[in-house]
Amino acid sequence: PSGANVPALVIGTGYGGCVAALRLAQAGVDVHMIEMGMSWDTPGPDGKIFANTTSPDARSFWLRTKTKQPLSNFLGFPIDRDIPKYTGILDAEEFAGITVYQGRGVGGGSLVNGGMAVTPKRENFGAILPSVNVDEMYDTYYPRANAGLGVATIDPAWFDTTDCYQYARVGRKHAQRSGFPFVFVPTVYDWDYMKQEAAGAVPKSALAGEILYGNNYGKKSLQKTYLARIKDTGRVTISSLHKVTSVTPAAGGGYTVVIDQTDTSGATTLTKTVTAAKVFFAAGSVGTSKLLVRLKATGALPALNGEIGQGWGDNGNVMCGGANHLWDPTGSLQASIPTGGIDNWNAGGAFAEVAPLPTGIETYASFYLSITKNPNRARFSWNAATGKVELNWQTSWKQPSIDMAKTIFDKINAKEGTIYRTDLFGTYKIWGDHLTYHPLGGAVLTKATDNYGRLHGYSGLYVIDGALIPGNTSVNPFVTITALAERNIEKIIATDL
Ligand code: FDA
Repeated sequence: PSGANVPALVIGTGYGGCVAALRLAQAGVDVHMIEMGMSWDTPGPDGKIFANTTSPDARSFWLRTKTKQPLSNFLGFPIDRDIPKYTGILDAEEFAGITVYQGRGVGGGSLVNGGMAVTPKRENFGAILPSVNVDEMYDTYYPRANAGLGVATIDPAWFDTTDCYQYARVGRKHAQRSGFPFVFVPTVYDWDYMKQEAAGAVPKSALAGEILYGNNYGKKSLQKTYLARIKDTGRVTISSLHKVTSVTPAAGGGYTVVIDQTDTSGATTLTKTVTAAKVFFAAGSVGTSKLLVRLKATGALPALNGEIGQGWGDNGNVMCGGANHLWDPTGSLQASIPTGGIDNWNAGGAFAEVAPLPTGIETYASFYLSITKNPNRARFSWNAATGKVELNWQTSWKQPSIDMAKTIFDKINAKEGTIYRTDLFGTYKIWGDHLTYHPLGGAVLTKATDNYGRLHGYSGLYVIDGALIPGNTSVNPFVTITALAERNIEKIIATDL
């Protein structure tokens, strides 16, 4: 309620926010979590909570009147369609040079993501977070994160035989024939559930193509893991459809937090003010950066340092498709959870996940999301004239990612006698270089904050999400975001409470 005084307020309910809330609550602290998206716990008219990827509806996108699907075209035809404007689950947030996809709702990105739960190779960790003790991460915090998230790897014998991973076996064959290591990618999908889906024994989700707009059954999103444990503590309240708009020092100590309550059209219905002793920014790389940049520039938090908004990267995301021969089908049934990747990180700077194209028909296409060692970093800044935070990323900054991905796919094409698909991202466009799913940075560890996420300039303000990570994790980021949050909150609870 407005006027309340809370010991700890967490902005956002993704990975960083959930780790902070759970550990604070377990330490005896009452926590209030604020989430701009919906709670995603009530079925729609079709009896399901989440919409299917093949038939997007109002639930699918955050305040858009037309879908903006990552694959805009198929067989040359545009596939985006009109939808009612609603506080849906996937935000395709557009900056001048890049579209940044993010989850909106209680559970953040865990609601919409592919569930790939990858711990970076230990030898690559120093380039990701150079100030963090590697032994502590690999002995304590990565194992804690993997256990908390329910990470597991596919049964290799089932992988070898099930129809729904034929597309990934084709990817493995092509990788190995060109001399690249193929690795299994652990996930947070319930593999026993997927086996039962394949056997026709339970309602389908991965095998019904559910992914981008939520997963109704088998994926262990944060709703099934950290948020369930948070609920069990009895110490955490969560306000959904509430958006934090300001944080500023309060006269009597602590911070005054201004929060807009909205309806499902996005309109503000009520503005509330609460006082919090400690505030955790966990609004995601983009959400946290936008808030901090604006609050610094407009005088609400003027003592934040000049690193705020800096060091942002796209985790080197770039997508492409391969056109296979007619004797090399990828299967009409494709599990929506990717489970294998081609590793050419050390030699070529690219790790390519074999992604599904769950269209329900045979496409003779292989589809890949590559994570690359793209060195470009962008910065968020406040535009006083428009009243908006801008990001200076340029589309051409993806060229290093394309070059790195080509170290894999040019070789595979040469070996197999195949070519790139040109029908997935627009006419004759080979590379999906217009987006990222993995925004990272903007309030980087040891730059905008100390080595545990305490913001420089203010005691009692913390960053605890993907904004801490300087632009790249060499693999999909959420396990690293979770593990770093586990490390930081342990220190904060031990020393700051
Ligand atoms: P996260 O974005 O999860 O949570 C932030 C929350 O804060 C959101 O719920 C947001 O609505 C809320 N918020 C923002 N501003 C607010 C405000 N002012 N007030 C209140 N609330 C606010 N990663 C991976 O490791 N494996 C994968 O397979 C994938 N796949 C994937 C697919 C797609 C489609 C997407 C969009 C993303 C992925 N990712 C992924 C990325 C992964 O989901 C992402 O890195 C994490 O969710 C980031 O976690 P954070 O805790 O930083 O923020």
